[in-house]
Amino acid sequence: MLHSVAFKGKHFSTFREQKLAKSKSAFVCTDCGADYTKWQGQCTACNAWNTLSEIRLSPAAASRKSKSSGYAGAVSSGQKLSEIDVAEEPRTSSGFAELDRVFGGGMVLGSAVLIGGEPGAGKSTLLLQMMCELAKTEKALYVTGEESPQQIALRAKRLGLPTEHLSVMAETSLDAIMATLEKDAPKILVVDSIQVVYREDIASAPGSVSQVRECAAELVRFSKQRGTILILVGHVTKEGSLAGPKVLEHMIDCSLLLESSDDSRYRMLRSRKNRFGAVNELGVFAMTDTGMKEVGNPSAIFLSRNENTSSGSIVTSVWEGSRPLLVEIQALADANQYQNPRRVVVGLEANRLAMLVAVLHRHAGIAVGDQDIFLNVVGGVRITETGADLPAILAILSSMREREIPRDLIAFGEVGLAGELRPVSNGQERLREAAKQGFSRAVVPYANRPQTAIKGMKVIAAKTLVEAVEVI
Ligand code: TYD
Ligand code: MG
Repeated sequence: MLHSVAFKGKHFSTFREQKLAKSKSAFVCTDCGADYTKWQGQCTACNAWNTLSEIRLSPAAASRKSKSSGYAGAVSSGQKLSEIDVAEEPRTSSGFAELDRVFGGGMVLGSAVLIGGEPGAGKSTLLLQMMCELAKTEKALYVTGEESPQQIALRAKRLGLPTEHLSVMAETSLDAIMATLEKDAPKILVVDSIQVVYREDIASAPGSVSQVRECAAELVRFSKQRGTILILVGHVTKEGSLAGPKVLEHMIDCSLLLESSDDSRYRMLRSRKNRFGAVNELGVFAMTDTGMKEVGNPSAIFLSRNENTSSGSIVTSVWEGSRPLLVEIQALADANQYQNPRRVVVGLEANRLAMLVAVLHRHAGIAVGDQDIFLNVVGGVRITETGADLPAILAILSSMREREIPRDLIAFGEVGLAGELRPVSNGQERLREAAKQGFSRAVVPYANRPQTAIKGMKVIAAKTLVEAVEVI
């Protein structure tokens, strides 16, 4: 912790801290939070260029040790885990089922949440909708530093939201915000966005690492003390990481990212860190002319396939956080015109494709070395699990041989280096979701075959990749 370094004290734990303290200012990478004594062009921790910004170190007060022996703090011994009161933490519903799921079943009192997303993703819209509804029953405060109260009122009116109860404050000075909080003590607080909030006693500009870190720390402290639900809005850099506040992610309980793609009105809210629920939980919303609407059945939108099927397309069932999601994988294999065959992957891991191609050659005797291969997951979904191995291979084969995969068939399963099919988690639920969406056949790893039959679903269990390919 840079700020706890004592300048003239004797308690430097490392040589690096000593050097930092002597220089009285430090340089911090705005992307990853690594600190340096001197400016340099590239951050050696995360390799980003031009991300170091200077921060002033405030001199720590007196020595932490008392004059007599030992430290000055009060003595207490630890508590036994069993003695600690563990009442189930009370949760507040946001009014959106999709949002509650991403939170892990509603918002926990006293928790701090960070919502990141590109400009125009719909962060302000979603939070305004949520806050207007919540303000009916709870004390809610919406602090904005980006828009005027008139703009917000206008938007709320246009969206037909209940506007009688929500307090709105246009303010960027942390001291003014804290003073209001002390007086009003809201139960739910939104700060839109943390990058525009500043503390006057810190020299650097709003949005810089030291400002963001100190302001957020103060807000989080307040929320923990008073049991206020704190929601911070954070901006996202071009590369898709939260600008500056990598440092922030340590302080907060829950980090959400609202993902948007330019050509789609669908927005995906994903949890990247959650102390009260599963990570990688996914909530799907649609941006409409009347604000953000929940999409209750996301499988249906990613599956809207056109009527005339073609080769190279297959549907798989992936596990997203705590629920299955059906997505379509497309492959195009094309005879290679140049020296090196091209391998282009969108939405899956590129290294995984190289591995699958090798397994396909060695264990199924099918060489694709003379083919360009393009793989794509439809709808801008990113798959990070291994269950997409088998469908990816089947899609490639289907494209190579120009043979359509039946429309009522799904497949999932991990492919091992020995050509075996390995089970994936939650096979039952994946199959059930597929049956619900009208699929009637599934090719799955042998260990994933259901114990009890699933209505309307014929499951074909295969032990190896070769078996699965032969079935199809
Ligand atoms: P906004 O919530 O302001 O985004 P953020 O706070 O994440 O920057 O969203 C603004 C975008 O959403 C803008 O491009 C317009 C669009 N939008 C709609 O399509 N419908 C609506 O009802 C509203 C309020 C916004
Ligand atoms: Mg906004």
